[in-house]
Amino acid sequence: MKDLKAIKIADNVYWVGAADWTVRDFHGYTTERGTTYNAFLVMADKVTLIDTVKKPFLGEMMSRISSVIEPGEIDYIISNHSEMDHSGCLPEAAALIRPQKIFASANGKTALEQHFRIGNLITPVRNGETLSLGNMNITFLETKMLHWPDSMVSYLAERNIIFSQDGFGMHLATYDLFDEQHDLKLLRWEAGKYYANILLPYSNLILKLLDELGRLNLPVDIIAPDHGPLWRKHIPDILGLYKEWAERRPQRKAVVVYDTMWESTALMAKSLAAGIQETGVSVKILPCSANNRSDIMTELLDANAIAVGSSTLNNNILPRIADVMTYVKGLRPTNMVGVAFGSFGWSGESVAQLNKMLDEMKVERISDGIKTKYVPTDDELAKCHELGRQLGEALLKKIG
Ligand code: FEO
Repeated sequence: MKDLKAIKIADNVYWVGAADWTVRDFHGYTTERGTTYNAFLVMADKVTLIDTVKKPFLGEMMSRISSVIEPGEIDYIISNHSEMDHSGCLPEAAALIRPQKIFASANGKTALEQHFRIGNLITPVRNGETLSLGNMNITFLETKMLHWPDSMVSYLAERNIIFSQDGFGMHLATYDLFDEQHDLKLLRWEAGKYYANILLPYSNLILKLLDELGRLNLPVDIIAPDHGPLWRKHIPDILGLYKEWAERRPQRKAVVVYDTMWESTALMAKSLAAGIQETGVSVKILPCSANNRSDIMTELLDANAIAVGSSTLNNNILPRIADVMTYVKGLRPTNMVGVAFGSFGWSGESVAQLNKMLDEMKVERISDGIKTKYVPTDDELAKCHELGRQLGEALLKKIG
């Protein structure tokens, strides 16, 4: 493969990454629009490659690099993040390029050793350290646990570009590399999906990073993440959205998530949602049969109330709701009110199990929930309706 060309993003700075138009599942996150693995070539006195791509895309990256310069003329490689979508081809790329040095954070050096046994090739850099590329300079800012221990971002001062690895990214395959080439609503949705499914547990660190960027007051013309389009026109929008998502101030939105065997729990879900809606809170009903866990998580990004339901099957909750709740719990949405519900035939453990999960998530439960035997009666559905109303009111009280 030799015909794929680099795309210029600024004077002497090129995108040399790859678009993955095929991927639809990214370790359990649905990527219906594919993704990109962004890598960048800085044509400074010391020619520098920033990040690499997932292993199967090595040929694409090398082709794009070769459209600008002989790969052997690259002096430095910087690895901002060791996860394999950005470092998977690093050993092979390093063998082809033979750079003078490969830079990563100290944790990055360890992670690259543990992944590929190439720690001996890595020169660690410190937080705040500036690397001279001759006529340009790159400063490293460690962003530990955003979202791996090794993560850092690189700032190219002479072009006002932050190479932000996963931060501010999204899964969207495209060769239209700038934000203004896309519908802003779509970018907000995909960036929100990325935040909800990757970064949400580290929201406190996001707030610290935003503060740090404000304190440094660096001029920024481009934020260049490792996935999806680069931010240029809408930088204030994405910074504002990150602040909003990280703060998780209560919003007037609730979700009703459930799985059902014979539609009884589904009936309960509809009555609960009707009660929530009556309070003026916006509500979405998300059956597990129709919504992937990562889309449910995206809906939770701006919701602060959850009603979660499951029938009882073999003394347990249903497998699909277990999947969703395990995933949601790991992503740690905060500042939530909630309640559990479900139908059963004879033993009826599901609601107690869901209550336990809500407690482990530190959701403020408004009651011990509601369960109904076999098919709910009209009276029982009226109780679900009332419980939904109480949940909506609890959320409104939280909003103040
Ligand atoms: Fe895109 Fe954390 O890797």
